[in-house]
Amino acid sequence: MVELQSVGFESELSLFKYDTLEQLPESHRDLDEAARSRRIAAAREELGDRVIVLGHNYQRREIVEHADFIGDSYELSKRAAESDAEYVVFAGVTFMAESADIITDDDQTVILPSMEASCPMAGMAEAVQVDSAWEMLVEESGGKDIIPVTYMNSYADLKAFCASHGGLICTSSNAADAFEWAFERGDAVLFLPDKHLGRNTADDLGIDGVVEWDPWAGDVAESMGAAGEVDPEIPDLGDAEVILWDGYCQVHERFRVDHVEEAQADGAKVVAHPECRPSVVAAADEVGSTSHICDVIENADPGETWAIGTEVHLARHLARWHPEVDVRPLCGDACMDCNAMRQVDPNYLTWVLEELAAGREPNVVEVAPEEKELAAVALDRMLEL
Ligand code: 13P
Ligand code: SF4
Repeated sequence: MVELQSVGFESELSLFKYDTLEQLPESHRDLDEAARSRRIAAAREELGDRVIVLGHNYQRREIVEHADFIGDSYELSKRAAESDAEYVVFAGVTFMAESADIITDDDQTVILPSMEASCPMAGMAEAVQVDSAWEMLVEESGGKDIIPVTYMNSYADLKAFCASHGGLICTSSNAADAFEWAFERGDAVLFLPDKHLGRNTADDLGIDGVVEWDPWAGDVAESMGAAGEVDPEIPDLGDAEVILWDGYCQVHERFRVDHVEEAQADGAKVVAHPECRPSVVAAADEVGSTSHICDVIENADPGETWAIGTEVHLARHLARWHPEVDVRPLCGDACMDCNAMRQVDPNYLTWVLEELAAGREPNVVEVAPEEKELAAVALDRMLEL
């Protein structure tokens, strides 16, 4: 068994990636919607094309209606890179702002309105933790050449780790291509951090040798001093072609196959995000990224009914944007919003825009240069797929 070195593991894992967090000042806590809209418009007027506001599909109405572009995480980063704006205000979560910083020019500054907008799934596979497990994974697999593939929903340091171990990044739209790229170069894929996207992709490709790796398992957790109950079982990785890091999105895990069956029995077709459980994905009529979900509704015939298996704000936007289609959230009132996305309160948006107009730069997300360079390598590999 490999001797693992302690890396101050628990203390290095963080709930919020950026501890330069600036809280919303008292003056901006209770703005009403009309005042906020006026103030946002005034700040934007003053900034002109020095600023671009990006709104992820999961942001609430009061945010997306102020956005220059609404879209999925990768699409929005590309929009930022294509623009000449000095400031990119990214209404999304930390990993998205990092990705925007990686692909924008050095003279563009990325602002995340609330630093508390940290995706829990990205936090389930921090680079320090993956780095600590790496040697054991290789040994337990019998010395296989493992290629790490990380989902876009991960921090920049994990993207950099993947690049430095011969791997790459993928989105939910090109995960299968990324797996194939990896199998051309190695014996097995370590997929991070979303086990459901990993399993759904392996199912698509007809891969049977899929094993889940619990980062808190057995000796790994013990050597790291993990608190609480520890599973002593280290899975046998000898026949593994795909090793799934045990991360997941709690918003998408909520959907179950009976939600799909009930919606279908009620005359709806179902479109689900590939972060959903494999049973949900297998039962759905359509599967794809948030952009694909938008396309499905845009192309639906008037009068069709679609149930949306993703974060509830996108289901609400689509219902508003396409009144000719009957759009509903897949599990009704039980559907969740994303707690991380919710941290981008419209008061925060007002505050950051007013700060920028006043010549200050609040809540800047800046990836360290060496991480940025490596993460860009992993991203370039994806772009070449
Ligand atoms: P997209 O990459 O489709 O924007 O999805 C991001 C996300 O967080 C899904 O949960
Ligand atoms: Fe992260 Fe899930 Fe929220 Fe997406 S919906 S940002 S994966 S927690």
